[in-house]
Amino acid sequence: MISNKLSRFNLQSENLNEKVMTRINCYPLLAILLICSISATGQKTKLEVDVTHSIAEIQPTMYGIFFEDINFAADGGVYAEMIKNRGFEFDNPKMGWQQPNSNSYGFNKKSGIANIIKSGTDTSSNNFCRVSIENDSGYVLINEGFRGMGIKKNAKYRFSLMAKNSKLAIQKVRIHFVDETGQVLGECSITPAARDWETYTATLVATETNPKVVLKITFEGTGVIDLDNISLFPVNTWKGRENGLREDIVQLLADLQPGFLRFPGGCIVEGRTLAQRYQWKKTVGPLWDRTLLINRWNTEFGHRPTPDYFQSFGLGFFEYFQLAEDLGAEPLPILGCGMACQFNTGELVPLADLDPYVQDALDLIEFANGPADSPWGQVRNSMGHPEPFNMKYIGIGNEQWGPEYIERYAIFEKAIKEQYPDIVIISSSGPFPEGDFFEYGTSELKKLDAEIIDEHYYNTPEWFRDNATRYDDYVRGGAKIFAGEYAAQSVRTTSPENKNNWECALSEAAFMTGLERNADLVVMTSYAPLLAHQEGWQWTPNLIWFNNLEAYGTANYYVQKLFSNHRGNELLAISTFDGKVVAGENNLFASSVKDTHSGEIFVKLVNTSDKKKQLEIDIKNQKLAGTATALILSSDQLTDENSFENLKKIIPQESELSTINNQLSLEIDPFTFMVIKIGLE
Ligand code: AHR
Repeated sequence: MISNKLSRFNLQSENLNEKVMTRINCYPLLAILLICSISATGQKTKLEVDVTHSIAEIQPTMYGIFFEDINFAADGGVYAEMIKNRGFEFDNPKMGWQQPNSNSYGFNKKSGIANIIKSGTDTSSNNFCRVSIENDSGYVLINEGFRGMGIKKNAKYRFSLMAKNSKLAIQKVRIHFVDETGQVLGECSITPAARDWETYTATLVATETNPKVVLKITFEGTGVIDLDNISLFPVNTWKGRENGLREDIVQLLADLQPGFLRFPGGCIVEGRTLAQRYQWKKTVGPLWDRTLLINRWNTEFGHRPTPDYFQSFGLGFFEYFQLAEDLGAEPLPILGCGMACQFNTGELVPLADLDPYVQDALDLIEFANGPADSPWGQVRNSMGHPEPFNMKYIGIGNEQWGPEYIERYAIFEKAIKEQYPDIVIISSSGPFPEGDFFEYGTSELKKLDAEIIDEHYYNTPEWFRDNATRYDDYVRGGAKIFAGEYAAQSVRTTSPENKNNWECALSEAAFMTGLERNADLVVMTSYAPLLAHQEGWQWTPNLIWFNNLEAYGTANYYVQKLFSNHRGNELLAISTFDGKVVAGENNLFASSVKDTHSGEIFVKLVNTSDKKKQLEIDIKNQKLAGTATALILSSDQLTDENSFENLKKIIPQESELSTINNQLSLEIDPFTFMVIKIGLE
């Protein structure tokens, strides 16, 4: 298995030829749920929940979000900028821009032409575009957006650019939304009145809804004008912020009520090379000073090349902290530890040269938590957040393994704990949840008194069902567990044929009952990856899919949501009448929690079989209110999925149950996950 996973990046044509694994279990789903009527012939499974016996506190961080800029998650995704390559900084600085009436090999007397000027010594952040217009009726500059631009009828869009009109040769710059037939669907203009660099803004109102317009820029006047940082955002971003995030996508995140937000990844933390690692200091401060970097997923998979994938860092560390705050989630930044991705170059910083990396971690804590007049607190303050972000957790290394990691981790741990003893450090057990790397890493980390160890599992749906008991026998008393990245793979890890199908989601639900039953040990969990653009993705499956107009939650998303929205704060035992945990016997899985604030208990039940099950749940030692509500997630076929064509094929359905003599009797349909909310008297 390990060798299979070791080759998971840079897989090329091999994957293209892979056939979709068929898991067609076409059992019809009968009625969604039949309530309170136990068939006279059926065999009943009797379960009991002892409400007075709380086994452990459920941490508010139990269910969270893993965010990585993969699949156009940030640029082209939740970061609402609609212009691709707005600062002309991509490796090919005109990528994303077209001049249909210009010819690089001519004088363009009937139009004009743009050239990229590189100024200064920093070749990656000083480009601008010099447009020379010979004939203003012929010259056109077009930005194609991220696989087009999605616009909504009557919505407003804020356009801005920087221009230097040295000789005042250009009187007007006109901006238009244009559809594929050339029809204009909204326009505005600016008057570039200054001879030196100046920022201009204008608002476009879309006259139609269209998923794929482009932005056309035309000019009045002949001569030269310099342009830079050409930007376009919907006015309606999340919380109306100008450098904002897509409202619909953030709303889906907010609906999860996440306990934490892990950022910025994922492998993106480490980089394919050390030079391409994520450097948080380059992502904060004034927007236009942030240095663009190639996205590591640009070239990662030969079968899903994305040559136009770069990181503008418009969504940088400040914005991640702000998003965590908006979501009521604990911020959990993960920092590189002097190791490039071990699936790629694995470049190492010598131990003697590790200081700047360690200093990055210490400075980040000051950026997040330091007083507004401390050196890094000042940067946060200058960005509009004088109050600290109260960061409690930091991750050192993403998916690192081997002695090289342990010796680097130890240096970080010592430095951080000396200065900030209360910060909880997350460490990595590597990419696999078993095997040599895992055994070695976890045992060495325990010697270092690691507090929370991050485990990752990308595996088959069967693995998830079989591993619902994974943590039952883990040794307690040492490090806690962060299930930091997991997702069932319908074909295999990194296969482009993986689907967000019901079998995967249901198997994750079964596994999650095991996470929850062990909430004394497992204190953080997150599905990965989070977001994917319908046309710009590299990795599948993902929790949420979007295009330029719409976003939807997968069946896996609703599994996460049901667990997270019903996390409770006390873990209760749910068992068979002979005292066994419900973890796969007869294809049933269960966990149970209490919410002392709302006075409810939440029972999670998963039936992974093709047979309807009859259950009797005895609630012991606490009087129940008369009714209960079941939130049921189910689908006819294990191959079913939500999609842009059917956004809500698999979403929770609500049904009322009644309790008699402190008992619930119910039937659970084949292939069904449900949360039962039971009110206590
Ligand atoms: O979630 C996709 C990738 O899987 C992450 O970047 C990495 O941490 C893991 O290998």
